[in-house]
Amino acid sequence: MQTIHTVAWMKQVAADARRKEDILGLVPTMGALHEGHLSLIREAQKQCSPMVVSIFVNPKQFGPSEDLKKYPRTFETDRKTLKQLGVDYLFAPSAEEIYPSGFSTAVVVEGLSDRLEGKSRPGHFRGVATVVLKLFEIVQPRLAFFGRKDAQQVRIIRQLTRDLNLDTELMVCPIVREPNGLALSSRNALLSDAQRQAATALYRSLVAARDEIRSGERSPAIILSSLRKVIDSEPRVALDYAEIADAETFEPVITLARESYILIAARVGDTRLIDNALIEPDENGTFTVSI
Ligand code: PAJ
Repeated sequence: MQTIHTVAWMKQVAADARRKEDILGLVPTMGALHEGHLSLIREAQKQCSPMVVSIFVNPKQFGPSEDLKKYPRTFETDRKTLKQLGVDYLFAPSAEEIYPSGFSTAVVVEGLSDRLEGKSRPGHFRGVATVVLKLFEIVQPRLAFFGRKDAQQVRIIRQLTRDLNLDTELMVCPIVREPNGLALSSRNALLSDAQRQAATALYRSLVAARDEIRSGERSPAIILSSLRKVIDSEPRVALDYAEIADAETFEPVITLARESYILIAARVGDTRLIDNALIEPDENGTFTVSI
């Protein structure tokens, strides 16, 4: 595996791959790799060669009061893991390499970026869209792999690729969870044992919502009240939002009909966690809920 720290070298590797008509795959990450990231990498390896994993803790997607400083960083362990997996290139630029002094451009996907995560974290998706467009321009991937764990992020990046006619195709992978249901996240490393146990309430609340839907409930208000009951019974977990949103617009759903997401965000101590379930209708009027 080659570790690349500069934009110039990464662009050269990308240009070589394009000339050879190789299917270059990119898995963008902020490091502190866990099985969720590795599932994207394994999927990318099935479909692409060469394979690039980027590790860049993007300062622009953290708000002034957010956890940029304490975001877990485990670069040497990550590098060894990627090498063992047989990844071809690790792209790990410095903040100065991505944002040299004088950098003054931002990418904003309007509308979608203002709701839910965007509302709770102003500027977050502007930072995400800016860095993802830069990564796509630098690495020029044919395929880029993202997790459904960050469903709104995927929707925004999809809009970005459509609006700007990018050639990169997005591949979305399922949420990887611990056996107790907790969605894997780099931020889980910041939780105490008791908080980690309490954090399973997010998963359990999605299960409660799924049970309501399976028993025929179609009203988001009623489904969400079952979900909230689970969260409220866990004193260590403070709900930020819980919403059923249309998968296309991310606007609240009045009654279940189209593809949508149950989206939740909550604080456990100082750590903010998100989770979601995908609701897909079939032609018989029944719904599949994937958690
Ligand atoms: P990061 O949080 O490191 O996540 C990198 C990728 O891993 C994202 O696509 C995310 O959805 C996916 N992922 C995280 N946890 C997962 C899980 N439990 N199961 C499946 N996939 C999971 O998301 C980012 O970084 C950044 O915003 C980034 C896109 C790299 C831009 O800076």
